[in-house]
Amino acid sequence: MGSQREPLVVIENVEKHYGDFHALKHINLTVGRGEVVVVIGPSGSGKSTLCRAINRLETITSGVISIDGKVLPSEGRELAALRADVGMVFQSFNLFAHKTILENVTLGPIKVRKLSKAKAEEEAKALLDRVGVGHQAAKYPAQLSGGQQQRVAIARALAMRPKVMLFDEPTSALDPEMINEVLDVMVGLAKDGMTMIVVTHEMGFARKAADRVVFMSDGEILEDASPEEFFTTPKTDRAKDFLSKLITS
Ligand SMILES: Nc1ncnc2c1ncn2[C@@H]1O[C@H](COP(=O)(O)OP(=O)(O)OP(=O)(O)O)[C@@H](O)[C@H]1O
Ligand SMILES: [Mg+2]
Repeated sequence: MGSQREPLVVIENVEKHYGDFHALKHINLTVGRGEVVVVIGPSGSGKSTLCRAINRLETITSGVISIDGKVLPSEGRELAALRADVGMVFQSFNLFAHKTILENVTLGPIKVRKLSKAKAEEEAKALLDRVGVGHQAAKYPAQLSGGQQQRVAIARALAMRPKVMLFDEPTSALDPEMINEVLDVMVGLAKDGMTMIVVTHEMGFARKAADRVVFMSDGEILEDASPEEFFTTPKTDRAKDFLSKLITS
């Protein structure tokens, strides 16, 4: 299923083996600029492995991944530069515990983007305001709720000016009342035109913000469709089975 947009992330014939285990099987996926793709599928289907491969936190066995026309190198300084194009938000927030919220967000821009401290702080404050935690800038991560910490993690990723944002189950470690505050920030980002790949089981988000839903099972992409099409008429038995369990659980 092709997208009419300019391709930003192109994944071609990607295979990933962990020893004997075939974790990603001939993955082909193109994400257009400004497109929001939700990736869903059962536990162990390879969703996190795919995210980690896109960010080169994980090597691939074969195939090609390119971002904005540039093939991801496997290592070196070029990789560091390309990795800065990809913002990543994980299930656990991974903020630096001994740095303030503001410092967590300014660290990367000062080190990697070579911004002055003053400029980095100005940008960080604007981003923290955008995700609704501007008034928490002087606090330490442990003084914030999980939902607030996850919004700081989003601001931190955005501070690097990424071309694409990857989210790997960003709300699954949160208490239910905090899920929406994080999803609202993500919906806002999507509306602002950010290119996003989002692993989530939050079907409300998928319906509201996704251009496409990709369903993975056993390391393969089995379906790639609009949310409407996927939720109303899934084509494979595995997707039907997965959806029926989601709805009843
Ligand atoms: N470092 C590793 N070494 C060996 N096998 C691995 C490694 N990382 C992941 N796997 C295996 O690869 C498969 C895919 O894992 P992955 O974490 O990508 O799944 P997932 O779809 O993200 O699942 P979940 O919904 O539980 O997060 C799993 O069977 C997992 O056990
Ligand atoms: Mg995972």
